[in-house]
Amino acid sequence: MNLIDRDKKYIWHPFTQQKNMASPLPIVKAGGSFLYDENGNSYIDAISSWWVNIHGHAHPYIAKKIYEQASQLEHIIFAGFTHEPAVTLAERLIEILPGNFSKIFYSDDGSTSTEVAIKIAIQYWWNRSILNGEWSNSNQELTATSNQQPATRNKLLAFNNAYHGDTFGAMSVSDRSVFTLAFHDLLSEVIFIDTPDEHNISSIKEMITSHENSIAAFIYEPLIQGAGGMKMYNVVLLDELLHFIRQKNIICIADEVMTGFGRTGKMFASQYLQSEPDIICLSKGLTGGSMALGVTACSENIYNAFVTDDAKKTFFHGHSFTANPIACAAANASLDLFENSDALKNIQHITEQNIAFAQQLRQFNGIKNVRSLGTILAFEIDKGEDVYLNIISHDITKKALEKGVYIRPLGNTVYIMPPYCITSEELNKVYSVLLELI
Ligand SMILES: Cc1ncc(COP(=O)(O)O)c(C=O)c1O
Repeated sequence: MNLIDRDKKYIWHPFTQQKNMASPLPIVKAGGSFLYDENGNSYIDAISSWWVNIHGHAHPYIAKKIYEQASQLEHIIFAGFTHEPAVTLAERLIEILPGNFSKIFYSDDGSTSTEVAIKIAIQYWWNRSILNGEWSNSNQELTATSNQQPATRNKLLAFNNAYHGDTFGAMSVSDRSVFTLAFHDLLSEVIFIDTPDEHNISSIKEMITSHENSIAAFIYEPLIQGAGGMKMYNVVLLDELLHFIRQKNIICIADEVMTGFGRTGKMFASQYLQSEPDIICLSKGLTGGSMALGVTACSENIYNAFVTDDAKKTFFHGHSFTANPIACAAANASLDLFENSDALKNIQHITEQNIAFAQQLRQFNGIKNVRSLGTILAFEIDKGEDVYLNIISHDITKKALEKGVYIRPLGNTVYIMPPYCITSEELNKVYSVLLELI
């Protein structure tokens, strides 16, 4: 059996309707911006393989660091043990993160990083509300020894159209969409608000005020909602909203899983804002896209609510591969590349080229909402509904591949998010394929 038949027999692919699924493309190697199939065809990976691959594929420096780490210490349980790559990475992240962060909690990917953030935020309020709590032996329920126990906050605040991942907590704070349809009855209570504009900001504030004593945390994708259709929104009003929310003592969780590590032009999208988050979630570009790793960083104040003689206030969360040394070594290597390579300069070039190309695109009929932010450029094909299930995406992916470029639109939202190593010529090739498709 060839690879495709073996795949069809044994594999269930993510985010893919299996019925009448187009045959997956077998890729045998990758390097820089390019993917190579078994027939020797090459494709520019214009979306960095689901937005993760920031320095280009199979980067020799990251590969070398992964090899060295794998030969030295490939894995160790992270409860009761520690290791150099995890500590070094934590030190380096704390140094560059936009906010007053003091602790790093490791997990596996973007979804687990937001799941951890949500759990930390809810348990923060629970830990604070339980005054000298003790377990009743009879019914295993927690009872407080004080009658003046403050009420805990356990509701979450999130944006409509958000995407924070596929685990249950992450789904709960994501848009109620086709992704979550089967689970709506099981998801946690979340107060959804629109992203702010001049017309709705006052009513959003009123809505928050009416729930302020029950909201534990607000989670948001700063500046741009990725999976929700690359929707860019008003940075000044987001800042105003965050400032307002912080005044209500609501924990602010910046989900920078997609925007982190240079995507929007700055190292972190939160750096466009005055208001700093209390918790930040990272993954995707964290390891240069080479290994799965998630990070949830939090402020000292939040961490301190878990530091107590009361064992019940422990954060009982962890994954088998927490702080995997190879993944941490890959992340350190990726940070080295930001210091020692042209990554930051390249981000600037891509940003400028995107702005110029967006200008050109605006003259075309048949497309709308042309927009760009840093290395991200997006627009909608003006055909059918503006929804994820618009099947035009399949056609576009197929036609672009035939022309040597890989893109994967979100419904009729076409976007590019290339690796930073992409050259001007390669980027021009991507643009010319987009123009041909239009
Ligand atoms: C903003 C954001 N948060 C969380 C996630 C989930 O990350 P993962 O797919 O690594 O679980 C994504 C994935 O696209 C994302 O864009």
